[in-house]
Amino acid sequence: MTKVVVTLPLPDAALAPLREHFQVLAWEHSEPMSPETLAARLGDADGVLCTLNSRFDAALLAANSHLKVISSVSVGVDHIDLEAASASGIPVGHTPGVLVDSTADMALSLMLATTRRIAEADRFIRDGGWTSGWSTGFFLGTDLSRATVGLVGLGPIGQAVAKRLQGFGARVIAWNRSPKDVPGVEMVDLDTLFAESDVVSIHAALTADTHHLVSAVRLASMKDGAILINTARGGLVDEGALITELHNGRLRAGLDVFEQEPLSSESPLLGLDNVVLVPHLGSATAATRQAMVRVALGNLIAGMTGKPLPHCANPGVYS
Ligand code: DGY
Repeated sequence: MTKVVVTLPLPDAALAPLREHFQVLAWEHSEPMSPETLAARLGDADGVLCTLNSRFDAALLAANSHLKVISSVSVGVDHIDLEAASASGIPVGHTPGVLVDSTADMALSLMLATTRRIAEADRFIRDGGWTSGWSTGFFLGTDLSRATVGLVGLGPIGQAVAKRLQGFGARVIAWNRSPKDVPGVEMVDLDTLFAESDVVSIHAALTADTHHLVSAVRLASMKDGAILINTARGGLVDEGALITELHNGRLRAGLDVFEQEPLSSESPLLGLDNVVLVPHLGSATAATRQAMVRVALGNLIAGMTGKPLPHCANPGVYS
């Protein structure tokens, strides 16, 4: 019987369709599978269902070219060396589409939380700071309706964010690798986007080309008091340079993703009041996570049965 390695804890109901056809090596622990355990389990496996916690580098892929499929419960696949997977003939499945609205909602949540200082005000009350009444200059924020919001990346998630922002009355500008014609969105170059935006929100994939796309120079070109929102991948932003800008109080930020996850307890971000931190929850609604698992299982079963993956991140593998 062909064998499937599963690296995430899944309820029996989700595993049942797999167990009907394959031998399933399940993972029941809440902590991620270690790289050593993953490497050991892949040895005689035919397919793997994983998350972004499982890193597939060129060496691991070359050593496991017998795999018929790697199916990730994520849209982003920067944890898998796609070129190496293609070179080894392994199709990689991912889950586009189903997490668009949840991730767009998270970007808007972070925009509102930073513009209206929600987390800071919550801490203020809990710490017993609210001892005098209402006052005109108290915890002043900024309005999205008066803001120019710059979207770096105008794929499905960027477009869903643009649609929400239009409801708030914001001016929406965007940059995308290939220009897009989206009603109500003005396409600009990256320099203009960083210089003109009150809020910059990142919606691009992390690749070798986009690593540190938000560089120290680009951060320095942002307006005083501007806000950076990142719900995409930590590696898109030079986090050290961002920390410097936050530390000197020039910028604010709302971050769902980080260069190193989980965020170290030593991270200077933890001591800063002008940043809202969320532990990579963009797609974290019950319905979206169920949909992601459903799509990933579809990719896995297709790969295991020799069919093209419905959502393949390296379609060139078939040519
Ligand atoms: C993804 O799918 O890539 C997200 O970052 C996790 O939901």
